Amino acid sequence: MDTIHIRGGRRLKGRIPVSGAKNAALPLMTASLLTDEPLTLTNMPRLADVRTLGRLLDVLGADMSLDEGADADVMTLHAKDIRSTTAPYEIVSKIRASFWVLGPLLARCHEAKVSLPGGCAIGARPVDLYIKGLQKMGAGIDLVDGYVHASAPGGLKGAVIRSPIVSVGATHTLMMAATLADGLTVLENAAREPEIVDVANCLVAMGAKIEGIGTSTLRIEGVERLHGATHRVISDRIEAGTYAIAAAMTGGEIVLEGAIGETFEAALSVLRAAGAEVESEQGAVRVARNGARLQATDVVTQVFPGFPTDLQAQFMALMTVAEGESEITETIFENRFMHVQELARFGADISLHGDKALVRGVEKLKGAPVMASDLRASAALIIAGLAAEGETIVNRVYHLDRGFERIEAKLSACGAEIWREKATQ
Ligand code: EPZ
Repeated sequence: MDTIHIRGGRRLKGRIPVSGAKNAALPLMTASLLTDEPLTLTNMPRLADVRTLGRLLDVLGADMSLDEGADADVMTLHAKDIRSTTAPYEIVSKIRASFWVLGPLLARCHEAKVSLPGGCAIGARPVDLYIKGLQKMGAGIDLVDGYVHASAPGGLKGAVIRSPIVSVGATHTLMMAATLADGLTVLENAAREPEIVDVANCLVAMGAKIEGIGTSTLRIEGVERLHGATHRVISDRIEAGTYAIAAAMTGGEIVLEGAIGETFEAALSVLRAAGAEVESEQGAVRVARNGARLQATDVVTQVFPGFPTDLQAQFMALMTVAEGESEITETIFENRFMHVQELARFGADISLHGDKALVRGVEKLKGAPVMASDLRASAALIIAGLAAEGETIVNRVYHLDRGFERIEAKLSACGAEIWREKATQ
């Protein structure tokens, strides 16, 4: 397996182009199943998860063409005929978003058989909200041998669905299902993450009728059919936030090209509170830190517009060298602290108390061999390695390749000493 090596201690300085958001690109790809016309997605990130989902869509009947650009790809998906309504375990167990084909398949074909999902091991991650929502829309659902069998022979019916908790995936799934249902669907307590907004905007471009986009109540009036469209994937707020934290960590200065400040304002304001300089401007965000040490700052992860759980690990890495004690509370996933023991290898002082991590800042981290446990945790280890004295080796980097495009190239261009060693077979 490949490893990433970092010789820490360099200040990052330069410009980083932010890629299209993984967590928008994946559900956007599944939206292609809703129409027999082509859906073209521009600003597509080049990621392992995109390729994995592409394989699943191919099995289901979407023909894909990819136009590789220097900075981003253009992908066209054309599901003229659905060849299969079965999403197999071999693929769905790899990435959670592939489970989300359930909504579009059921809406268009009135049946679907989808393996229970996999994805990062950060908690139990059940799918009860998806199932209850689709049942309310008239679907019959059985769980057999690890597969969700869903059917709605006469088509889905509009319904009022109030979710007890905010779920990104359930919102994507139910919103897509509702676009072709008979009548009005109201999703109450819906997620309003920027990626949901992006997908909703694409669905509208495809002919869907959706009101309340960006709020926690979505009103979707089903239509007979959707048509093709061209849509630009929103820029990745988690990638941007990760590099913003890296700039603060190394006492450098990075301009994040294409970043949309409002989509990760909660993270930017915490960085400001910790002592970083942040300027949001049209089409870019600049993050810098002068020589002064960062101050410990508390964080509680929340659904949007709160501090995102997908930046919790990276922020914890930053707090390991801040002055004072910071309390980091994870409210979204119950098992998203696996990076704690790896950060300890750098000499970080962190103790866990249920859903809270108490981080006592140390003067310096020391490079170490470490193991990535999940996607965002891998980014936290890279951030720690960038500031640590000596060499860090990050193992299991396939996690990183799932969600960060060309991370070594982007960081090297800003002066980091980081390289990948290919596995010898
Ligand atoms: C999405 O996961 C993202 N994944 C995650 O990013 C992100 O961390 C998460 O939303 C929260 O923002 C993608 O977009 C591909 P949820 P999702 O349903 O949809 C519970 C990354 O690193 N829940 O909003 O799976 C669930 O267990 C990934 O890119 C139920 O109880 O998250 C969790 O505690 C990791 N029942 C909470 O809701 C359900 O039926 C929020 O999960 C569904 C969810």
